[in-house]
Amino acid sequence: MNIKSSAITVLIASSFGSSAAFVSNGAARMQTKLFVEDFNLDEGNIEPALGDRRNLFKAAGALATANALLPNIASAETPTALQTASSLKLPKMGLGAWAWGDSIFWGYNPKNDNDLKEVFNYAVSKNLAFFDTAELYGIGRSESLLGKFRNESKVKDVQIATKFAALPFRTKSTDVVKACKDSLKRLNPQTGEPIPIDLYQIHFPNAWNNEDYWDGLAQCYEEGLVKAVGVSNYGIDAMRAVHKKLAARGIPLATNQIQLSLLYRYPIENGLLKACEDLDVKVLSYSPLALGFLTGKYNSDVRPSGPRLSIAKKLFDGPDNGEAFNGLISVMKEIASKHGVPLSQVALNWTRSKNTIPIPGARSLKQATQNLGALDWDLTEDEVMALDAASAKVPAYISPDKSPFPKEDINTKLKMFDS
Ligand SMILES: NC(=O)c1ccc[n+]([C@@H]2O[C@H](COP(=O)([O-])OP(=O)(O)OC[C@H]3O[C@@H](n4cnc5c(N)ncnc54)[C@H](OP(=O)(O)O)[C@@H]3O)[C@@H](O)[C@H]2O)c1
Repeated sequence: MNIKSSAITVLIASSFGSSAAFVSNGAARMQTKLFVEDFNLDEGNIEPALGDRRNLFKAAGALATANALLPNIASAETPTALQTASSLKLPKMGLGAWAWGDSIFWGYNPKNDNDLKEVFNYAVSKNLAFFDTAELYGIGRSESLLGKFRNESKVKDVQIATKFAALPFRTKSTDVVKACKDSLKRLNPQTGEPIPIDLYQIHFPNAWNNEDYWDGLAQCYEEGLVKAVGVSNYGIDAMRAVHKKLAARGIPLATNQIQLSLLYRYPIENGLLKACEDLDVKVLSYSPLALGFLTGKYNSDVRPSGPRLSIAKKLFDGPDNGEAFNGLISVMKEIASKHGVPLSQVALNWTRSKNTIPIPGARSLKQATQNLGALDWDLTEDEVMALDAASAKVPAYISPDKSPFPKEDINTKLKMFDS
């Protein structure tokens, strides 16, 4: 069987919002290589071209193939009866594992798996072991790594959130249940009864069949495959609708995972954050470091390589030559130096000041130590106000209009992604 890089590119791009625009074919080829190695495939027959939405259907075949070949990577049987669902208690911060296995955007290299394991063990040692992954991250590799690390650590107190990819070809509630069981297998390489998924989320809305997904999510919960359910990239109307549908079955919508950072404030501006609070839906803020741009390590002269270069151009080469962004960084530096902390902690504590749970990505022990260290202190009200004012002057680094997530369900006319 042949999995071409374009197929993987489209598949991955569908989950990364505007970042997708920065994915290159070279990176896609590397992910394909890892994918082929991971799932024991040979060259073959999926060959969609980029740029055509219909290709999502074909590309989705890659994920289907990966799942079909799961027994190659996991020995656990498909779980049937697992322990009863229980309520979710999340720490004040989690760790994002998108980069753990993803070579397309993050240039993942398996040689660095030990670094990732160190991050994992550090979070466990701090009692902050809450990891966010997805079946799409590295086409299953991120989940497999987390399953492996958890198994090797022998520690039970690890919470893992993963996500169902709402790809266009998936149209039935049973697609959600099947994907959930496949994720469970990757997360449970050990023999014996699999540990249920702590939080199972719909990664992003689809343009149709969203109600079927909610039904599938409810089934996963009722079967005890997962302990709690959530959504991601859901706008206000869509979140209210899924909340209502689940509530009718006595199931709480635990979370909405959305992008929020000092460089992406839409959920505050359009009322999404307030709507989550009103429904008692916890917000997991993703990309809280704006993909690393809020850590202070990049400036007009020092830019990241790879897909993030385009974002650097937008930030530093815009009409104001980066003046507003530099203004924000100056305010952040002032606060950081007052507290004697790295800049990343200021960025993370700003998202915490908005009553959200940030899930920053970390690829090294140093990054994880710095990021989790944000929990040792809080911003003052004046500092939050100063950051609000400085960040309001900076145009968002990514435009929601460029997001590939469907804005509307074409059948129900429900507004889906709207930030
Ligand atoms: N639901 C969704 O659609 C969605 C979308 C995106 C992300 N997410 C989730 O959110 C998580 C976090 O978001 P993200 O990974 O996109 O972006 P992020 O957390 O804003 O940035 C993470 C990156 O910043 C750099 N970094 C992290 N800590 C640092 C530190 N202390 N000092 C310097 N650099 C540091 C690292 O990259 P370098 O070392 O390369 O600079 C790291 O990979 C993801 O892993 C994923 O779980 C979800």
